[in-house]
Amino acid sequence: MSFLRACALGDLQEDVPKRVELNGVPVALVRTDEGVFAINDICSHANVSLSEGEVEDCMIECWLHGSSFDLRSGKPSGLPATKPVAVYPVKIEGDDVLVSVNQES
Ligand code: FES
Repeated sequence: MSFLRACALGDLQEDVPKRVELNGVPVALVRTDEGVFAINDICSHANVSLSEGEVEDCMIECWLHGSSFDLRSGKPSGLPATKPVAVYPVKIEGDDVLVSVNQES
């Protein structure tokens, strides 16, 4: 599993999503009180950016139709989305946030 540097840890404000692109994969990074999570930035319901939504209690809400996705599992908590979005492994090394987008889980 290869990790790529996504950003500096100091660039992430708590519960404020940040969009990055790693190897062409759009990723929403979110720092929460449970740690830093990386989730595919495209909602599984339609082609909109999840990082433009709001985060609360480790859930990111799609701004378009309101489905929330669990940052830990990628699973939606309610309709209209029914499919999960990919989540990616995250490592923190010093002030670097590293993400592996090769293996979806
Ligand atoms: S586009 Fe995200 S819930 Fe519809």
